[in-house]
Amino acid sequence: MLFDSHAHIDDEKFDDDRLAVITRAKENGVEHFINVGADMQSSLRSIKLAEDHKEIYAVVGVHPHEAEKVLKADYDQIAQWTRHPRVVGIGEIGLDYYYDLSPRQLQKEVFIRQLDVARQMHMPVSIHDRDAHGDTMAILKSEGKGIVGVVHCFAGSMEMAKELIKMGWYLGVDGPVTFKNAAKLPEIMTNIPLERLLIETDSPYLTPVPLRGKRNEPAYVRYVAEHVAALRNLEFETFAKATTQNVCDLFAIKL
Ligand code: NI
Repeated sequence: MLFDSHAHIDDEKFDDDRLAVITRAKENGVEHFINVGADMQSSLRSIKLAEDHKEIYAVVGVHPHEAEKVLKADYDQIAQWTRHPRVVGIGEIGLDYYYDLSPRQLQKEVFIRQLDVARQMHMPVSIHDRDAHGDTMAILKSEGKGIVGVVHCFAGSMEMAKELIKMGWYLGVDGPVTFKNAAKLPEIMTNIPLERLLIETDSPYLTPVPLRGKRNEPAYVRYVAEHVAALRNLEFETFAKATTQNVCDLFAIKL
């Protein structure tokens, strides 16, 4: 049994076959997944999906790309949503200095405000950090006290990984670990404690080998799991069980 800890199947790329995608996940042993919001609308769609399908949980929040669109009232709305029984965390929040779609200062403000909501509501968080490792770590250290979460699609250094582990955080691994140009990532994912590792797809993005280039979907988390289990010299079943337990531990999910 596998648990995809990070997917976006509310995305329009699934408009034609969303139900088939959910069914296919199940058929491939991916019994559960978390649908992660990227803005207010997609957070609401995530909640709706979680209400309609018992295998889906919702994480709600605003991605750094959308920081410019955030209204003051949105923080209260996000806090309200966390009271919903199917909402298990706040995300994805963070910094994106690769695309820089919103001004960096604003990205930081929106990130910090959502961390505040997470602390107040006792919610774990899902972090997006692209080419912003220094500022992400600085903010997590200064503003993230009392909060745990996952740095999804981890792309930092071994040093950053170790720091996060020490802080009690989790690292999310997805398709890029299977890529030829994965650099240090396989080594990092082999050496961090198994109990801090979350597997994910980030569907529809980051499709793992051997399907790289196609649309990603939760069923394909199996390729990520097989790859990392092999790297770590673990039986697939052992790895699947451990990583499922990790998602449940972080997001307080009772299966
Ligand atoms: Ni994502």
